[in-house]
Amino acid sequence: QTELIHTFNGIPFSTRVSKELLQSLDTFEAREDDVLLVSYPKSGTHWLTEIMKNLYHSHSEANGVSKVTLTSPLEFGDLSRFDELRNLPNKRLIPTHLNYEMIPVQFKTKKCKMIYVIRNPKDTAVSLYHYYKQNPNLPKIEKWSTFLEMFLKGEVVCGSWIDHVLSWEKSKNDENVLVLYYESLKEDLPKHVKEISTFLGINVTEDQVKDISKKSSFSEMKEKAEKEKVNPNHTVCVLTSNKKLIFRKGTVGDWKNHFTSKQNAKFDELFKEKINSSELARRVVYES
Ligand code: A3P
Repeated sequence: QTELIHTFNGIPFSTRVSKELLQSLDTFEAREDDVLLVSYPKSGTHWLTEIMKNLYHSHSEANGVSKVTLTSPLEFGDLSRFDELRNLPNKRLIPTHLNYEMIPVQFKTKKCKMIYVIRNPKDTAVSLYHYYKQNPNLPKIEKWSTFLEMFLKGEVVCGSWIDHVLSWEKSKNDENVLVLYYESLKEDLPKHVKEISTFLGINVTEDQVKDISKKSSFSEMKEKAEKEKVNPNHTVCVLTSNKKLIFRKGTVGDWKNHFTSKQNAKFDELFKEKINSSELARRVVYES
């Protein structure tokens, strides 16, 4: 089991992310028109890729503009990944779970567009727990209580949720950064499809917004994933190419079915200080 995870800079990573790649992140050559989609695992990454893919698709249909490729995560695999990305002729839409400090420096200096999606940590923990249980690329976990202890200590893939969020805190208002909240997307998807289109500079009609919202609904995405063939060379999440493992429940507040009141109190107590110091975290913890 241990070979599934290794630690880099104190953060647990899947061994599907090589140490050499992590050491070389700052050598990555970004392009000004790259778009990064950043998230802590289980925050809605696949959802966002579907919205963005559809937005670019409707755009290119209307204007004949150059194609966009949704790549596998920036940190997926070994160093040859960087060559692969360099050789892509299309505009690149690149997902990643890296925290802000680890994002290759050129994305920052070139002011590439970055979308950061964040979700209530209790729902994120529950979602990640089920992922650990079903995903052969993650260590076996027997019990929710054991997993929660690991999550609280940041001993899960990509490390501590709150530290990930805190790393983005300073950049949340940057012009090239758009922060999205899972709960808010659930509340009013068309509104956010419009917001994302404006951020990406894509013109869409009301009908297209409606259509994209429908196509990226949980039920449609789940149904599509059931039929899709697994392509091991392409994935949105480093941890699996099997999309069937992604669409579990897609709801807000499932944590209430897992946390005991004691676990909830412990969670609140442990995270209180850091959450209160983070506007991003406060929003998903207290307003959803
Ligand atoms: P649950 O396990 O709570 O169901 P990621 O894509 O970052 O791995 O996140 C996966 C989580 O997002 C899963 O949460 C999944 O069901 C949910 N999700 C994926 N697509 C969704 C959609 N279209 N609408 C709502 N939730 C979605």
